[in-house]
Amino acid sequence: MTPSPKPRLLTGDRPTGRLHLGHYVGSLANRVRLQYQYESFFIIADLHTLTTRPEPEHIKEIPTYIKETVLDYLAVGIDPNVSTIFVQSAIPETYQLNLLFEMLVTVPRLERMPTLKDMARDAHMDSMPFGLLGYPVLQAVDILLPRAQVVPVGRDNQSHVELARELARRFNNLYGETFPEPEPIIGDVPLLVGTDGQNKMSKSLNNAIYLSDDAETVRQKVMNMYTDPKRLRATDPGTVEGNPVFIYHDAFNPSRAEVDDLKERYRKGQVGDVEVKEKLARAINNFLEPIREKRAYYLAHPLIANDVLAQGIQRMQAEAKATMELVREKTGLSYSLDLFVDQVDIFGNEG
Ligand code: TRP
Repeated sequence: MTPSPKPRLLTGDRPTGRLHLGHYVGSLANRVRLQYQYESFFIIADLHTLTTRPEPEHIKEIPTYIKETVLDYLAVGIDPNVSTIFVQSAIPETYQLNLLFEMLVTVPRLERMPTLKDMARDAHMDSMPFGLLGYPVLQAVDILLPRAQVVPVGRDNQSHVELARELARRFNNLYGETFPEPEPIIGDVPLLVGTDGQNKMSKSLNNAIYLSDDAETVRQKVMNMYTDPKRLRATDPGTVEGNPVFIYHDAFNPSRAEVDDLKERYRKGQVGDVEVKEKLARAINNFLEPIREKRAYYLAHPLIANDVLAQGIQRMQAEAKATMELVREKTGLSYSLDLFVDQVDIFGNEG
C-alpha cells in the first residue's frame, strides 16, 4: 500500500431510500467538492439501520436502498476514480473493532448523547436497545477503521464525531498511538425546508423533491408548494423571506436577475404564484437534468455501478485489515488458529 499524501475523509449515509434536494444542498454538493482535496471514503451504513429496524422485512429492503444510494452518489458526481464507495456490512472488521470500542465508553456518556433518545422516540421504541445506544460507537468504528482525519457531517452528527475523537484518544492512551483524532467538518448551510414549508425536507414527511424525480413530478411538486399563506391574490404584496419558493430559487436558480426580478414583483404584488413556480420548476429541472442523465446512464449499465461497489469494498477491506492488524498488535489480542496449528509454543515449554 502506497501512503497517500492527501488527508483521509470518511462520511456517508444510512441506506433508507433515494436522496433528495435537501441531501444535495446539505451534504452531497460539499462531498463532490471535498473528494478532490481528501482521499475520500463514502460509507453506506446499512448496519446502522438495524439499530431501529432489525427485522428481516427491513433487511430485505436494504439492497434496493443501497442501489439507490450508489446511483445517487454517482449521479451527483461522486467520482469512483478518486473516491471509495463501500457497504458497511461487507467489512467484517467493523464488528470486531466495535466490540473493542464498547469497552472504552461508559453507558452514562452514551445516555447523554442528544440524538439517541429522539431516534428511539421516532422509531416508536419505548426503551433503548443496546445497539441503538451504541449507534455513535459504531459510527466511530466507521470513521476510525480507515483512520479518517476529517468527517464532513451535519450539525445533528457533530456529537457523534466528538465521541469518535474521545474513543481515538482513549484507545491511544491505553494501547499506544494508533488512531488519528478525526475532525468534523460541519456544513454551514441551513437545512433545506420541505415543499410544505413547515419542516426540513425529509422522506418521512412526504415533502421532498428527489434527485431522481422526473421533470413532470418536479413540476407538480413545485406547483403544490407552500408559499406565503397571507397572500390570497397575485396583487397582494407578499413576503419573500423564509418563503420556500424563494429559498429554492436562491438555491437552484442560477439567474440572479430572474430571481431578483421575481422577488421585487412579489413584494409589490405584481406577480402570481404560478409564474414564480413555473420559473422555479424550470430552474430545478435544469439543475436536475444532468444528474438524471448520469443516473440513467448507470442504471442502463448496472455492471459499472456494480464494479464501483466491488472496487470500493475491496479497497476498504484492505484498509480495515491493516487497521485491525495494528489493533491486534497494540492490544496484544493476537490469537489466531494459525498460532496453534503452526505449533508455535505459546505455553513457554521447551519443546
Ligand atoms: N450517522 C449518519 C447518519 O445520520 C450515517 C453514518 C454512519 C455516518 N456512519 C458514519 C456519517 C460515519 C459519517 C461518518 O445518517
